[in-house]
Amino acid sequence: MHFRRSSVEIKTQREIELMREVGRLAGETLSAVGDIIRPGITTDEINEFVHADTLRKGAEPAPLNYLGFPKSVCTSVNEIVCHGIPGPQKLLAGDIINVDVTHLYKGYHGDTSATFYVGTPSAEARKVTEVSRKSLELGIAQVAPGARLGDIGAAIQEFAEGQNCSVVRDFVGHGIGRKFHDEPKVSHYGKAGTGLRLKEGMTFTIEPMINVGHWEVKVLEDEWTAVTLDGTLSAQFEHTVLVTGDGAEILTARPGKLKNSEIFDDY
Ligand code: MF3
Ligand code: CO
Ligand code: CO
Repeated sequence: MHFRRSSVEIKTQREIELMREVGRLAGETLSAVGDIIRPGITTDEINEFVHADTLRKGAEPAPLNYLGFPKSVCTSVNEIVCHGIPGPQKLLAGDIINVDVTHLYKGYHGDTSATFYVGTPSAEARKVTEVSRKSLELGIAQVAPGARLGDIGAAIQEFAEGQNCSVVRDFVGHGIGRKFHDEPKVSHYGKAGTGLRLKEGMTFTIEPMINVGHWEVKVLEDEWTAVTLDGTLSAQFEHTVLVTGDGAEILTARPGKLKNSEIFDDY
């Protein structure tokens, strides 16, 4: 047996500065999305807003034409797990929607998403949304030099399954930088003490997709839209993070509370 040096990039100080810039811009656009969510808005209108806001910042929407994706943002409503394509669908009171924003700026990517409440959520919608929000927070709390990738997945899986939810396995977080999707793959379930050892200067996303029912998903005919196989609700939050000397820096952090999402103190 032989071992290969890990192919995970360590960013230079200059690259870290650029990742901070693009991360901040992506976080700002996601914040602005929170202000426009309301019953009656279409996912196409959200797409147009994100497209215009991204260009206004001097950035490009990375999803547009990425591997043939037709729009500038992913909008995933209710049982859609991820990669929902914006269209004429009007949001209804009681829906939940994940909006996943990725900016490309000065050659670097910033990737962040949140689930928003449209009007007042059902108990189930609130639960899966708050469990996914907390899952991301617990995953990020594991990030430090010397920690292992499996520590992140284990923390998320233990919490989410303990809340009687399930963790999607078919989609993972990812290294990010000049490439939108790079090594390593960041699984949201797994075993503590296993997998790649994290090093200062790595940048990757954590983006747990949490389902009310079973973790299995299927991809629709459009070859993008992933839905829960059992039709139950799914929610997701995503940040781009940097491994620092003693923990994590959230590159896509937002200055204030996210409207239509960060509205409960507990659940
Ligand atoms: N932003 C998604 C992620 O978190 C990827 C979307 S790929 C696209 O990795 F083509 F659908 F935009
Ligand atoms: Co991502
Ligand atoms: Co994303």
